[in-house]
Formats: sequence, structure tokens, C-alpha cells
Amino acid sequence: MDIDELAEKLENSVLEDAREVFSETVIEYTYNPRNVGEISDADGVGRVTGTCGDTVQIQIRVENGRIRESRFLTDGCGTSIACGSMLTEMIGDKTIEEALVITSDDLLRSLDGLPEEYVHCTVLAVDTLHAAINDYTRILEQPDKLMRDKQGDDQG
Ligand code: FES
Repeated sequence: MDIDELAEKLENSVLEDAREVFSETVIEYTYNPRNVGEISDADGVGRVTGTCGDTVQIQIRVENGRIRESRFLTDGCGTSIACGSMLTEMIGDKTIEEALVITSDDLLRSLDGLPEEYVHCTVLAVDTLHAAINDYTRILEQPDKLMRDKQGDDQG
């Protein structure tokens, strides 16, 4: 057996084990993640560390009140990858108001469920999205203050 065959066998065995615990949707969104990475000109950034100690970051780019792009990073479990992937897809082209009402239960349903011990990963993802939206709205509400802060920073 060559190294490629061995790797494939190993991957198949890992997938078989995963299928006993996770839905096909979770496996698909974990192994083929969507929207991973960062946005250089993000309008809002949320970064939250959950009770498990893992940190998720979500960035959003907003145009005319709609989320045109979102990206996530996580240093957490495989489920947090599935959560970030699915959530960033769910908010695609949504208004800020529509994105704000998405709950961790909605995310859980979209993933076709999770074992009880991983449900908190959905809460962390949604909390992170809320933090990104809060960051975006804070910038909208206080453009003058932010400009003053920036000028202050620039003057050292
Ligand atoms: Fe920490 Fe899933 S995000 S265990």
C-alpha cells in the first residue's frame, strides 16, 4: 500500500467514525469549509472566546445595509468550522436586521443537529456574528468619534 492509499484509507476510517456521530451536513461543512479567511476592508469584526476556550472570528462587509461578504476563522473544534461555514452562508445577502435574528437554534437546524456536547459551538458562532454586527453598527453610530480616535492615533 503506498502513502496515498494509506492516507485515503485513514480518511475513510475517520469519516466512517464521524458519520456515527455527526450529520452529513456537518461533515460536508467541516471537510469542505466555506468562507474561511479574512476580509481586508471589513466593516465589522467580531472575535469571541467561548467557555470551551476556543476563539471564533467573523468579519462582515456591508453594502446598502446588506451583508455582501463574510469570512470566519476559528482555532476550535471541527464543529466550529461547520458552524462558521454554515453561518456565513446563512447571512449571505441578508440585511443586518435579518442576520441579527438568526439564532443558535436556527444554525443547529441548518446543520441537521449536533450531539449535545457540541451544541455550544453554535452559540459561540452566533455570539461572534452578533459581535461583528455590533462592531459594524458602532462604527455607523459614531463616525465622528472614530475619526477623532483615528486622528489621535495618527498624532501618536
Ligand atoms: Fe469549542 Fe467547539 S467551539 S468545542
